[in-house]
Amino acid sequence: MREDIESILVSEEEIAEICDRLAAEITEDYRNSGKKLVLVCILKGSIMFTSELMKRIELPVEIDFMRASSYGARTVSSGIINIHLDIKRDDMEEVDFILIEDIIDSGNTLSHLVRYLKERGAASVRTCTLLDKPERRTVDYTPDYCGKVVPDKFVVGFGLDYNEEYRNLPFVGVLKPEVYNK
Ligand code: IMP
Ligand code: MG
Repeated sequence: MREDIESILVSEEEIAEICDRLAAEITEDYRNSGKKLVLVCILKGSIMFTSELMKRIELPVEIDFMRASSYGARTVSSGIINIHLDIKRDDMEEVDFILIEDIIDSGNTLSHLVRYLKERGAASVRTCTLLDKPERRTVDYTPDYCGKVVPDKFVVGFGLDYNEEYRNLPFVGVLKPEVYNK
């Protein structure tokens, strides 16, 4: 697995620092909100990031899950978002949601999910991403909380996959292009 990685882009230590910083910001921002704070882990890529982040937030927090896809086995977004797993709750107007994403690329997934939860009556919807690749935006979208801006390279690890593989790497690394150009 590691021989398919060209270089390490975000080390385990840097990921821990990012999670400390973002959790401190979230704790500060939501301390007096008066609503229920719900982190929405966007499956599957955000699983590691969500768990590292939530254990550092010093407020009562719930967790929920959504699954959306636009990708399949390719490395560019199709622009069409399918929701495969949705949130089921009847207290939307009582909830501050933070959507937790592994990486923002075209911006399609998050802008679609934010609009969708707002339409369903959420008290507020913000987004927190571990990584951001702003060079590749096709939809104008800026996350509220961002771990690190990265260059336009296909990356894997710490939850991020290529064809469902590499998610278990403890760091984020650049995948050798020959792996996906095969
Ligand atoms: P967007 O809708 O184009 O912003 O795509 C976001 C989704 O694409 C992420 O949740 C990832 O699942 C996937 N993605 C985008 N770039 C990468 C990458 O470099 N490695 C792995 N997955 C990626
Ligand atoms: Mg993915």
